[in-house]
Amino acid sequence: MDLSLTGKIAVVGGASQGIGYAIAHLLASEGASVAMVARKEEPLNEACARIAAETGAKTFAIPADIRKGADCERIISQALDEFERIDILINNDGAPPLGELESFDDVAWQKAIEQNLMSVVRLCRGALPSMKQQGWGRIVNITALSAIQPIARFGLSVATWAGVLGYAKTLSLEIAAQGVTINTICPGRIATGRLATVFGNGTPGQLEQEQLAQITKLIPMGRVGEPNEIAGLVAFLCSPWGAYMTGTVQHVDGGRLGSLI
Ligand SMILES: NC(=O)c1ccc[n+]([C@@H]2O[C@H](COP(=O)([O-])OP(=O)(O)OC[C@H]3O[C@@H](n4cnc5c(N)ncnc54)[C@H](OP(=O)(O)O)[C@@H]3O)[C@@H](O)[C@H]2O)c1
Repeated sequence: MDLSLTGKIAVVGGASQGIGYAIAHLLASEGASVAMVARKEEPLNEACARIAAETGAKTFAIPADIRKGADCERIISQALDEFERIDILINNDGAPPLGELESFDDVAWQKAIEQNLMSVVRLCRGALPSMKQQGWGRIVNITALSAIQPIARFGLSVATWAGVLGYAKTLSLEIAAQGVTINTICPGRIATGRLATVFGNGTPGQLEQEQLAQITKLIPMGRVGEPNEIAGLVAFLCSPWGAYMTGTVQHVDGGRLGSLI
């Protein structure tokens, strides 16, 4: 299947590891040039160099914290300075802390809103003029299954990503006629460092067999997903094969969602 991504320009968030890295790698493998964003400069530079070496694609590191408005503006301006346009925007990063909703004060809520919702608002607002000018663009948001099937203690993410779902659906109506699509992916459990941090002992990459068994027994497929299984859907949505899909919410979860839609 030709995904026709050769020559496309992508901005990928949270691209130094995990799901974002897999997305950046796959888009680059398919011929896109990729601006990669994360906070820590060294791992980001290493990831950027590795993808360039393995795919032959042009990659460009933009160290930034997407919780900050000024950083979001800089991500867009640096990507435009480097590549002159933006075709694809992947909104992906970390997530706010877990805990019972009553335990969070206004500061924690504000940080969660900046991280999960305002980063999407700001990066879309920054990238859209370039996409609209060309009459072509693809935006994909990475949230979580918990945004559509809430889990206790994940409330900061559930509430703020619910805002992203509403934002994306509304935006899809406003930009559809200009050739720009926006879709949201809700991953289930995916094998990344984050999975071990959230469900293990807090040490990335250190998930015990017993902890893994607890997680997988709730997944009909009996296994956690691979980052590439999210990246594959992203690439499809960015390709001509996904051109008629917009405003959708896709769960990629090994069958875990407990409802009809
Ligand atoms: N793994 C799962 O099972 C799973 C399931 C459902 C949803 N998700 C969601 O999918 C997204 C990616 O998860 P993952 O498992 O790939 O996580 P991960 O392995 O921890 O990677 C997160 C990436 O985001 C970057 N990042 C974190 N905070 C950032 C910030 N404020 N500004 C810029 N970059 C930031 C990290 O680099 P720096 O730390 O250097 O910034 C890293 O590159 C998260 O939103 C997560 O909640 C994951």
